Amino acid sequence: MSVTRKTLIAGNWKMNGSAAMAESLVGDVLTGMPDQDGLQLLVLPPFPYLAQVILQCQSHSLMVGAQDLSAEANGAFTGDVSASMLLDCGASHVLVGHSERRELHSEDDQQVAAKFKAALDAGLIPILCVGETLEQRDSGLAEAVIHRQLDAVLEMVSIQGFASAIIAYEPVWAIGTGKTARPDQAQEIHALIRSRLEAQDATIAGSIQILYGGSMKPQNAAELLACEDIDGGLIGGAALQAQDFLAIAAAA
Ligand code: PGA
Repeated sequence: MSVTRKTLIAGNWKMNGSAAMAESLVGDVLTGMPDQDGLQLLVLPPFPYLAQVILQCQSHSLMVGAQDLSAEANGAFTGDVSASMLLDCGASHVLVGHSERRELHSEDDQQVAAKFKAALDAGLIPILCVGETLEQRDSGLAEAVIHRQLDAVLEMVSIQGFASAIIAYEPVWAIGTGKTARPDQAQEIHALIRSRLEAQDATIAGSIQILYGGSMKPQNAAELLACEDIDGGLIGGAALQAQDFLAIAAAA
């Protein structure tokens, strides 16, 4: 594929940190950020720190997003946060269907698709997370799982819904485990994702960013990011240290 896509390095903080830690981490990232054409950086802090991080990033190119959202617009959904609230406080992106949401909160493909649609409808950029477990990979089901997760969203929003969206391939067995997919393993699934979209719209498939996530760190980032269909990284653990996060950005 000859399209040049921007590289996106996104830091998923998960449920970590404090107001003070958020301020110092973002401060360090802002100070050390490379000013490089074609490279985008995004941080995904926990809900309570979104507003302060967005304020801190004003007039900088560091983008800020959320880790989850409700599929509902408003109403009696205690504890939930809607897409319009996230947009209102200045977020630009939101993760949808992270494996920890799928697993720990029993989010199924239909709920994930509904969240994706809610994000799009509000004007947020959804980052759809897909990925297989080790058991599924060992049983030869990785491709089928990725297709199923992708198809649920395609059915809900059609291929047009992917025109302003991002996909993150995160093999569940690589998240937080220190085990990283080999570049050829990751590239194979990234190409599979792109070709699934390509069957419906070659332009959208060619321009969509597909990120790799799962124990990406400064030591392995360069060879993963060098793969043809890997357009960036969704970084968990290594995003909590500005130095590591910036080293991954530098590798890009
Ligand atoms: P990890 O997390 O980099 O700590 O494996 C990635 C993620 O869950 O987004």
